[in-house]
Formats: sequence, structure tokens, C-alpha cells
Amino acid sequence: MGDNTVQLGRSLKLLVAGASMISFGVVAGCAQQIDAQTLQQNQNSDVRALVNFGPRASGTQATEKASNYLQQQYRQAGYEVKVQTFTYPKFTDLGSNLTVDGKTIEGIALNGSQAGTPNARLVVVPNAGREADFAAVDAKGAIAIVKRGEIRFLNKAQNAVKAGAVGLVIVNTEPGNFYGTLGGDVQIPVLGLSGKSGSSLLQANQLRQANLAVNTRQGNVTGRNTIAHLPGVTQPKVILGGHYDSVVDSPGANDNASGTAAVLAIARQAAKTPLARQAWFVAFDGEEDGLHGSRAFVSQARPEFLKGLKGMLNFDMVGINDRLLVGGTESLTKLAKTTAPQVSTFGSRGGSDHAPFASAGVPVLFFYRGQDPNYHQPGDKQVDARLIDETARLGFNLASKISSQ
Ligand code: BES
Ligand code: ZN
Repeated sequence: MGDNTVQLGRSLKLLVAGASMISFGVVAGCAQQIDAQTLQQNQNSDVRALVNFGPRASGTQATEKASNYLQQQYRQAGYEVKVQTFTYPKFTDLGSNLTVDGKTIEGIALNGSQAGTPNARLVVVPNAGREADFAAVDAKGAIAIVKRGEIRFLNKAQNAVKAGAVGLVIVNTEPGNFYGTLGGDVQIPVLGLSGKSGSSLLQANQLRQANLAVNTRQGNVTGRNTIAHLPGVTQPKVILGGHYDSVVDSPGANDNASGTAAVLAIARQAAKTPLARQAWFVAFDGEEDGLHGSRAFVSQARPEFLKGLKGMLNFDMVGINDRLLVGGTESLTKLAKTTAPQVSTFGSRGGSDHAPFASAGVPVLFFYRGQDPNYHQPGDKQVDARLIDETARLGFNLASKISSQ
């Protein structure tokens, strides 16, 4: 438990500084420390609970369990909870490769590729795989192999089909792997190889047999947005949100159990204040697959509902790094800076759940603490509760200001 001791000592020390920077109600010094300690313990246990369900890829049992946990926590804090479901297609590569001369080379199926395991001649197609390039070789009944670039993946694949190929391999022009998307229906399996493992195959022009194995699944995923508000609050002025799904294989402590815990902390705090009647709290799902949860929320909302919103505050990756960054609509970034001078602003990136709201004309503010070396990795399993707490305090203060203006 050596870790805990260090953690506690450090958080208490920094807490004093934090408390002087952001006011959080009028509480006596000692009570404030005890109160803040309890808050941090809550946030720690929220993050830990979410992480312990396992990686929360949308549509998995872990994510359903996480949703149930959040529902329970919000109900306990006095809120009514609704689950908004939405469905989207999701492509999964279950492990794909090419075997030549008894040697198996791991690759990555192009997103949208058919599954298939043809065993056929390997034919090197010259240049970029235009129709004329395929015409220069006999690719009928063969697995074609071509380099990446110049024309779209879909064109290469369509040309391969026209030439009668039963499979296509595309070799990267860089040493590493690539994640490509076909972007259209093609009736043959298409595999991507790294330049490192594939470029020698492009040189050799002797006749050889190959086994292509593209194991993919195209399924539908049902995501669950978890929405909490007080009974009767049908038109909030502020939405506080963050995604609770993670990528496959990552426990998603910082990305984004941290933001989920911050929103929950604000909700618990707001329950005793006027903010609760002006706010909705949303844990978005399907973010990592392309902002599906926030898109579904915005597209299912009535236009008047969106017009009534004075702000959407999004919390994503707020559990590591001391510096707190905010980005988004100018009026809200200004308000954030005057409320808490220690925050820095950054040019908001599009890649999180505030983006669909911003596109719909809702003022947005994105809270973020900068790059994470464990971003989307199995190592994303630890956060600093003090940082979540600091973020939640600022979020609470800003949401209260925005909704009382
Ligand atoms: N938490 C990240 C977004 C992020 C990363 C924001 C770094 C700020 C800095 C999010 O979960 C994510 O990975 N988003 C994707 C895009 C999304 C549409 C799939 C991204 O940023 O690549
Ligand atoms: Zn994220």
C-alpha cells in the first residue's frame, strides 16, 4: 500500500493550492479538506469500478455493466436515468494474414473487406494497380499483390475484381502497417501488409502459391447513452458529458473513465444546488467507433431542445497531467479563463463528443489534460483522482455560471 500513502500525501498538499484557485462553496478549511478527500475517494472508486469491468468497447458486456453501474450511481445521487440506445455497423478484423512459402505474414484487413481464405497463385501487379496495370498480368483466379498509393483502395480492389482476382493484398509504402478503409462493397478479401513484411513480395516475380486468410466480421453494435437528470427537467441549459466506452484492449482509465467520473462528481455536487434543475448529465457510448453516441443524441434531439442549450461541456482524458486545457466556443473558453486563470486554452480538436453539438450550433467547451503516453493502450489503467477532482470543481463552477446567466 506504499502507493496509497504517497498518493494521499501528495493529493492533500496539492489540494490546498487547488482550493485557493477555485472556490467551491464556503466551507471551513478543515471541513473542506475532509470533504475534498471524500470526493476524491468517490472518483477513485468510480474509475476503478469502470476499469474493473474490463475494456469497454461498445456493444460488449463490460460496457453494459459500466452503464448499469452509472445508472445506479446517478439514481443514488437522486437523478432519474434513461438509456438511449442506437445502432451502427461495426467491422472487426478477427486476425488476418498471408502465407507464402510456408511463412505466415500478419496483416490488417481493410475496413469493410469481405472475409475469405483463398489459396491461389500470387501475382504481382505493376505500379499502383490501375486497370491497365492489371491488364499487363494474368490475375484471373489469382491473389493479386500491389503497392499502396496513387489511387484509392476501392479502385485497386474493383480493378482486381474486374481482372478476375480472388483476393487482393496491398503493401504499404512505409515500413509500418496501415489501417485502410475500402469505402465500398467489393466481393473479394483485401488485406493490407506493412512495407517491411510485404515489399520483398512485390520484387519477386516467380510463380508461387499463397494462402490468404482474411477473417472479419461485419456486425451491428447497439450502444447505450446513459442520461441522468432530475424528474421534470425536460429542457436543460447545460449538458455535461463524456464518453464511457473505450477501445478494444484498453482499460480506458484516462480515456475516458476519468471524464465519466468527473461528470458523475459534478452531478453529485449539483444535486444539492440550483444547477441540478438546469443540467443533464450524459455518459456517451460509441465514441471510439466514431462519436456514435453523441451523434445519436444530437440527431434524436428536437431542434428547440438544442436551441435551449447554453453550453455542452465535454470531459475527455482529464485524469493525468497537471495542466488543464480547455477548448471550444470562444465565449465559453473566455468564461473558463476568467473563472480559473490556471487553465490554458488549446485549439479544440474535433475528435470527441462535443463535436456533434458544435456542428448543431450549441456552444461547447472541451476539457482535456493533454497527451497520454498510454493513449489507447493496455497501459491506460491509472489516473490521479486529484486531477479529476480539480476538473470537476471547475466544471461545476462553469456550469453553474452558464446556467444562471
Ligand atoms: N479521447 C480521444 C480524443 C482525444 C485525443 C482528444 C487526444 C484530445 C486529444 C477519443 O476517445 C478518440 O480517440 N477520438 C478519436 C476520434 C474518434 C472520432 C474516433 C481520435 O481523436 O482519433
Ligand atoms: Zn476519449
